[in-house]
Amino acid sequence: MNSTHATTRSTIHDDVEEILVTGDQIAERVAQLGAQLEADYAGRDPVLVSVLKGSIIFLADLIRAMQSTLSLDLMEVSSYGASTESSGQVRILKDLSRPIEGRDVIVVEDIIDTGLTLNYLLKYLHDKGPASIRVVCLLDKPARRLAEIPIDYRGFTIPDRFVVGYGLDYDERYRNLPYIGVLKPSVYGAASPEG
Ligand code: IMP
Repeated sequence: MNSTHATTRSTIHDDVEEILVTGDQIAERVAQLGAQLEADYAGRDPVLVSVLKGSIIFLADLIRAMQSTLSLDLMEVSSYGASTESSGQVRILKDLSRPIEGRDVIVVEDIIDTGLTLNYLLKYLHDKGPASIRVVCLLDKPARRLAEIPIDYRGFTIPDRFVVGYGLDYDERYRNLPYIGVLKPSVYGAASPEG
């Protein structure tokens, strides 16, 4: 054994103050959502449109909870403004790779906070002439909602806290936490994550 290996190596878990949703709770809920979508979209070959990057882990687990035929598309958007505040002005960095005209679209989102990003995106997708659009989100944070969003399937409703893990980041870190947690204030330094 190499004596230079420290016995107390710090990990991303050390920065977590509180776990809001455990990995087991996520797995159970995602399985339920997948089964519900599978039943609701039986025989309809939906296209799941997800938004990079925060949604990818949810998307990956959700589609493996669905045994029916489906396809995927990915978009990437950036909202102008501070990193933890959504301005509602959205720039599309990566567009759909295939037309969605006449398709049944399921938008897969990690978290809906103000709703401004999704509000823009839903209008954008509507203009492309899909047969239907529904929204599935893992986390709903209704306290700061500014745009009314029809959420058809939701994993969990959470309080007004800035959360990380299971795809969600703070400054591109902590996406690989297997649960949804809140960071210790010390991680943010003097600045508040809520802007
Ligand atoms: P909205 O436009 O305010 O609904 O923000 C949507 C996007 O902001 C989400 O897709 C996330 O990328 C990000 N976001 C909002 N709240 C959180 C949070 O608590 N943790 C990490 N990212 C968040």
